[in-house]
Order: sequence, then C-alpha cells, then structure tokens
Amino acid sequence: MPRSDSTRPRPAWFFREYEPVGIDLGSPAAVAAYDRNQGTDPDADDALLDRLGVDTGSRLVDLACGTGSLVIQAARRGAEAHGVDVSQEMLAFAQAQAKRAGASAHWHRAGFLDYAHHAGPADVVTTKSALHQLPDFWKQQALLNAAGMLRPGGTFYLWDVIFSFEPTDAAEHLQQWIDTAGHPEGRGFTRADFEAHVREEFSTYAWVLEGMLEQAGFDIVSRTSRTPTHGEILCHRR
Ligand SMILES: C[S@@+](CC[C@H](N)C(=O)[O-])C[C@H]1O[C@@H](n2cnc3c(N)ncnc32)[C@H](O)[C@@H]1O
Repeated sequence: MPRSDSTRPRPAWFFREYEPVGIDLGSPAAVAAYDRNQGTDPDADDALLDRLGVDTGSRLVDLACGTGSLVIQAARRGAEAHGVDVSQEMLAFAQAQAKRAGASAHWHRAGFLDYAHHAGPADVVTTKSALHQLPDFWKQQALLNAAGMLRPGGTFYLWDVIFSFEPTDAAEHLQQWIDTAGHPEGRGFTRADFEAHVREEFSTYAWVLEGMLEQAGFDIVSRTSRTPTHGEILCHRR
C-alpha cells in the first residue's frame, strides 16, 4: 500500500516516523508473532467500542492500528472505521484479517504526524500501545493532529504504557514491571522486549500526557491506571 499522506514536503527537521522504533515488525512472520504476543481479543475490542459508544453510523479512526482488530470490530458493527499505520506489513495483515471477517474498513498507510483525515469529522479517535513511539515534542504534535480529526465533543481514547508512579520511585516500578511481565522466548513478549521498551522508546508520565492533551484542546474525562506502568486516558474534544 503506498503512503497515503506523505507527499507533502517536510522540513529536514521533521520526525522520521516511518523509521522503525522498538520490536521488529518488518516481515509477515514478525507481524504474525506480534499479533499472537499482543493477544488480540475481539471481546475486549467490543467491550471498548461499547464504552466509547461506537455503533452503526459512527466514524472511528484508530491511529497506529497495528493488526487492526479494533478497526475490524468497529466495521463489523456498522461503523465507518479507519485504520492508520506506518507499517506496510501491519496493514497487509489487518486487511487480510478484515477480508476473512467480511468487514469493510478503510486502511491508510500514514503516521500520527502526517495522517490527513479527508473523511468527515470523526466521532471517536483511538490509539493503543503506540503513542510512546514518539518523543514528547512529537506526541504533542500527534495529539494536535488527532484533535483536528474529531468533531467538537468527540472522544479521544489513549491506552499505553503510562507512568503513574512518583518520579523518585521510577527505578523500583520499572524493575518490578520488567521482572513480572516477560515471558520465555517464543511464548510472548520477553524480558528483553520490555527492557528495550524502557531504554529505547518514549513512554512518559500521566501528568506529562495530561498537560499535552489539554494543550491539544481536550477535556480529560477520566484517567485510569491499571498498574503503575499502564493506563488509559479518555477525553472529549472541546
Ligand atoms: C505496539 S503496536 C500497537 C498496535 C495496535 N494499536 C495494538 O494495540 O495492538 C505499535 C504500532 O504503531 C505503529 N507505529 C509506530 N510509529 C507510528 C507512527 N508514527 N504513526 C503511526 N503508526 C505508528 C507500528 O507500525 C505498530 O503497528
């Protein structure tokens, strides 16, 4: 799939969002392994879509949609569903899954920063397990872009590695996460995957994200920390 929106010339200082960050997703086998490790769960997707009020006639955009399960479940319930991702391999997997499910969705090879939403304003924009791939300055730009896709009052849902511990306790909480989350090789994400996440990706504190969301034009409706390292933030566009 050609890139949807990268034809606009970018200044030399612009973030290179098509360059891979984190675990390898550069082959069909790596994508299939990612999907297994991530534990795609249509019931969990449906529960989230229920919470977000996505139904027939809703318009949803999932940014960094990966293997596309949320987009597919949204399309299956009659929503106009858009999946956006920089990875050709992820989108190919997502499209094949959609075909198998008989779900008709819109797929865009584009990034948080350069996706230009040409459909009507979205009711819901989601992004799960992905915003951490951008450094903080670029997260802010991505959130501005997400806000621009939404109708006033529309919902933005963020799930990610989000730190809710005190900065002084960081080492203890990060170590505890890494010590408990890793699976043996071949049976899920490994300890080395989580170590690399902390070392090389850009996860940050809830209070940093909350400030950015406010700057981007969102009112925060709720913030829930499932653990000191993971959580969700639900917002409405002002
Ligand atoms: C860990 S996966 C999460 C996928 C999916 N949201 C999920 O919950 O399973 C991260 C995804 O972000 C995509 N990605 C990385 N940087 C991106 C960017 N700047 N814009 C859009 N997608 C990006 C990757 O290709 C990958 O599909």
